[in-house]
Amino acid sequence: MNRRLSRQGKKMIAASVFFFIFLSLAVFIFLISTNKIRLAYNNNYKPDQPIPFSHSIHVGEYQMDCRYCHTAVEEGRHAGVPSLDICMNCHLTVKPDSPWIQKLQEAYVNNKPVIWEKVHLLPDFVKFNHSLHIKALSSRFVKGSSIPASGDQVRKTCTTCHGKVENMEIMYQHESLSMGWCVQCHRKEEHQAPTNCTTCHY
Ligand code: HEC
Ligand code: HEC
Ligand code: HEC
Ligand code: HEC
Ligand code: HEC
Repeated sequence: MNRRLSRQGKKMIAASVFFFIFLSLAVFIFLISTNKIRLAYNNNYKPDQPIPFSHSIHVGEYQMDCRYCHTAVEEGRHAGVPSLDICMNCHLTVKPDSPWIQKLQEAYVNNKPVIWEKVHLLPDFVKFNHSLHIKALSSRFVKGSSIPASGDQVRKTCTTCHGKVENMEIMYQHESLSMGWCVQCHRKEEHQAPTNCTTCHY
């Protein structure tokens, strides 16, 4: 009798241990998937894109200015990803026999945007602004001048945070975008950018 009870007791314990593990796992997965906790940073994150757009062709080979496509980069938080209109300035006529360009044209004609996979994404509780950074950092390449930066100077500025974009066949995240990474640059002698918590957090 006693023995049977204790066997049942053991089963109960096993079941509750199992349930507990299951529950913690579910909570854990929920927290990760909603970005409430992070196990690691996303450096080198390189999602597949619907069309294999190559920065190395457009920027490396054809020397296009980043701002031709990322038109909002000097204005606010987001650099923005270009609409198909911009692509079609060239691709109505450039390489129309390529299957990828045909896919592009088809999307354009049907007024269906290409949904690019996001590569970089800071959590919502972080303040970040491209325009301020482009201004502050490109002044290093345009010494003592207030004239707008050239394409080359701007590219160098982007490179400090995004790596050598002109060599990227497929875009990936070059830096961790961790708090330590931000603060390390802010602390540098030549920048002396603010490092108090409210600079970057609401
Ligand atoms: C011909 C247009 C074009 C030019 C020029 C261009 N880009 Fe892009 N860029 C794109 C497109 C399209 C995407 C979205 C697809 C992808 O991620 O590859 C993108 C994505 C990106 C991303 C990642 C966006 C994300 O989801 O996080 C970064 C960073 C970037 N570009 C930086 C640059 C820099 C720096 C330059 C200049 C050196 C540049 N781009 C020039 C079209 C362009
Ligand atoms: C000081 C570092 C830094 C510099 C300089 C910088 N970026 Fe970014 N970039 C970031 C961060 C951080 C993100 C993620 C922003 C977010 O999630 O809100 C990002 C995101 C992007 C994206 C994705 C869309 C968006 O805006 O969220 C594009 C495109 C991009 N950058 C292009 C550029 C281009 C082009 C330049 C140069 C003109 C540039 N960046 C310069 C840090 C930088
Ligand atoms: C200033 C002109 C120009 C713009 C704007 C432009 N491209 Fe291109 N693109 C080119 C040239 C030039 C090539 C190389 C063509 C070749 O290999 O003969 C190319 C090649 C490509 C290819 C490779 C095609 C293949 O099969 O080899 C893709 C994909 C592509 N572009 C997508 C885009 C997308 C997406 C946009 C808009 C975000 C865009 N391009 C904007 C000029 C442009
Ligand atoms: C490559 C160096 C560098 C990196 C990396 C960098 N910053 Fe900055 N940041 C600067 C400089 C320089 C300024 C000063 C701009 C000014 O005030 O002229 C600045 C200013 C700022 C400001 C505005 C401060 C103010 O005056 O109110 C914010 C917010 C900010 N950075 C957030 C971030 C965040 C968040 C990251 C990381 C995702 C980051 N920065 C990464 C160099 C950098
Ligand atoms: C230069 C910008 C910058 C400054 C200054 C800054 N942070 Fe952050 N912080 C970030 C970024 C970017 C993240 C998101 C990336 C990460 O988690 O590392 C972050 C994340 C955090 C997180 C969440 C960590 C996590 O793993 O989710 C906390 C908590 C935090 N910061 C507290 C602070 C405090 C406290 C200060 C002042 C001592 C501060 N931060 C100053 C940029 C900054």
